[in-house]
Amino acid sequence: MGKGKRPSISLFAFLQATFSVVSIQAFQMPTTCRTMSTVVSYRETYPQHPCFSQQRYNSHICMEPGIIQVEELSDQDTFCSYINCMKEIVENQRVVKKCSLDECKPVQEYLFSSQSLLSLPDISVDGFKDRLRDQKRQFLEETGFSEEQYEYLVRCLAYLGDRCAKIQQIAPALIAWKKMRESGMKPRERFVSTYMYVLSLDERNVQACFETATFHDVLFEPTEKSIFLRIKTLISQSDAKTAEYILSSLPDRQGKSSEWKKLRTFLPILSHYCDVGDMISALNLFRKMRKSEGVIFDSETYGLLIGALARRGYFIPGGLSVDGASTLGSLEMGGPALFDTISTEMAEDLLELSLDAAETILDGFVSGFAGENSYEFDCVTDKCINVSPLLTIGRVTVNETSAVCPATGANLRLFALTEEQRISVHDTLLEMAAVQHEDFSEKLKARNQNFKGRGDSERARRNLFEFSEWLREHEGEPFTAIVDGANVAYAGHGNVHYSQVQLVVDKLEDMGEKVLVVMPSKYVGEKFYVAGIDSVQQLSEREVGIMNGLLDEGKMYQVPAACLDDYYWMLASVANQTEHQLHVSIDNRQRRFPGLRPMLVTNDQMRDHKLALLEKRLFRRWTSCHIVNYDLESYSENEWQDRDVRFVPTDFFSREIQGNEVGGERSSTVWHYPVTGWEGSDRLCINIRR
Ligand SMILES: *[C@@H]1O[C@H](CO)[C@@H](O)[C@H](O)[C@H]1NC(C)=O
Ligand SMILES: *[C@@H]1O[C@H](CO)[C@@H](O)[C@H](O)[C@H]1NC(C)=O
Repeated sequence: MGKGKRPSISLFAFLQATFSVVSIQAFQMPTTCRTMSTVVSYRETYPQHPCFSQQRYNSHICMEPGIIQVEELSDQDTFCSYINCMKEIVENQRVVKKCSLDECKPVQEYLFSSQSLLSLPDISVDGFKDRLRDQKRQFLEETGFSEEQYEYLVRCLAYLGDRCAKIQQIAPALIAWKKMRESGMKPRERFVSTYMYVLSLDERNVQACFETATFHDVLFEPTEKSIFLRIKTLISQSDAKTAEYILSSLPDRQGKSSEWKKLRTFLPILSHYCDVGDMISALNLFRKMRKSEGVIFDSETYGLLIGALARRGYFIPGGLSVDGASTLGSLEMGGPALFDTISTEMAEDLLELSLDAAETILDGFVSGFAGENSYEFDCVTDKCINVSPLLTIGRVTVNETSAVCPATGANLRLFALTEEQRISVHDTLLEMAAVQHEDFSEKLKARNQNFKGRGDSERARRNLFEFSEWLREHEGEPFTAIVDGANVAYAGHGNVHYSQVQLVVDKLEDMGEKVLVVMPSKYVGEKFYVAGIDSVQQLSEREVGIMNGLLDEGKMYQVPAACLDDYYWMLASVANQTEHQLHVSIDNRQRRFPGLRPMLVTNDQMRDHKLALLEKRLFRRWTSCHIVNYDLESYSENEWQDRDVRFVPTDFFSREIQGNEVGGERSSTVWHYPVTGWEGSDRLCINIRR
């Protein structure tokens, strides 16, 4: 500013008086400053602003004849923390780079000014990039900055964002963000993401968050975070339709959509619809969510939806139905059919309900069906009840010997692996055997440079396959109990105890099972090295006798050296010993454990194999159908004394969400849901009668 433009003394006095007042007033979104030619800089006479103890203050004041527009960027505290943060940055060598002191000065003046120069361009999809370009041009015109100076400005603001992220401070970023917008910058994505992150640290900044997120999405590919922030803001303003529109207008490209179309982004919208009772929109959205690959449902979400539908009477037979339902596909009915549809989908998505979700559902049903007569119902302690002639609901303990629900008489079922899944497990195990063998060889090689390899991985696969063939072809009755020999022999000890193997075999045979022990060949000998005790174990004569007896009677299979025995007993459950899968019925005369065969007797947790073998639900299905844990009574002196063995039988009705028909003519579906924390055969039972 030239000397000629210096304002008169009286104006100075006036400004001085005004400044201290306006500077503490809250910031309003800036309006256009029309007469920028009259911008005045008054460095000499600047009033003692508390932020500037060491820094000279510069302020641009925008005036129209007769009117003084002092536009503040924010309240004083926010502005001060911005200044304090920026002060350190503007002189940082990595920010200054080659910019000379003289070049830096005007930029710093701009940065330290609390006034706005230009209005901010609206963020919208159409033509925003052009508008940014215009804004930048205008900004450069107003400030007279060169490209170098502009670059310096960009660096200052970018560094400030990083700094705020590092020290988790929000206020400086609020001001810097407005400066960035004002200067018409098109920053890098990382820059915007950082600001978005910082501004989202405080819930109260919804509007600023919304702006950064929208800005981000207009310029760059949306991210889960940016979408989530925009949706959250819209929902806080009860604008669910726009939020849903934003989500559905995102491109559905393969793979990419799952990045933003997640449960987290949908959930605020679904919650809103459920809260306000717009159940058609809620169901429509639920449809979309289930179609979206990225959404992995949790039980809270199902609890929310089912609870809200129940509370509002949508499941009452002949009651409310979801009108306008033609777009809802299979959901176009109300009453029990609607509930069956959603429960069927839930059974595909979940293994069990959380206690919270169970309570939400229960509360919804009780108040929906009992209406005025609604009452408190504690789903943890209260037993199943008839809430109305149309509804039975509550916690039941399914009869463990008959699999019958005491409240409704429904029979619960067992879900086993399908033929296809059995083949898949079978083949996966062969694959794992080969891979494990490679790992094993690598380890030995690492330990011993001269290791030549003990056969190839193909042989490991072939060995396991031979076992499968052996099971199919062997003479006599099919094996119904496969014993993890090493696991039983070692149980409770650091070395091998054949007495325990014999004990378990005897007990199983007493229970009517045909037994096969799977034993690593290493332990089929009179002496062998035992790592756990770091010495050679010599079997007693009696133990050798047992070992030979098991071999002679064809009750023991030796797993070849360098092959993992786990795969052998696991494979036995999915190999074809007979045409049909073996099954023992509930009412069998011999009082055998009901359920599938063969059972796999082991206490192995199978942590190592879980992931590769099957996805979570199928793994659980497989273990609950086949794995039998055991408990050996300890002995005081003589390990050969008769010891008690307790077996934990396999499930013969599944601990999974399931619907079963009851009643003849007026049949209805009874749903049973396992609940996290409820032991054994306790379930949440829901039966709507038609
Ligand atoms: C379970 O069912 C069996 C067989 O139907 C029956 O004898 C038994 O009493 C039932 N147990 C309970 C606790 O109801
Ligand atoms: C078992 O038998 C079925 C039907 O014959 C066949 O499709 C399947 O491949 C066999 N499974 C194994 C593991 O051999």
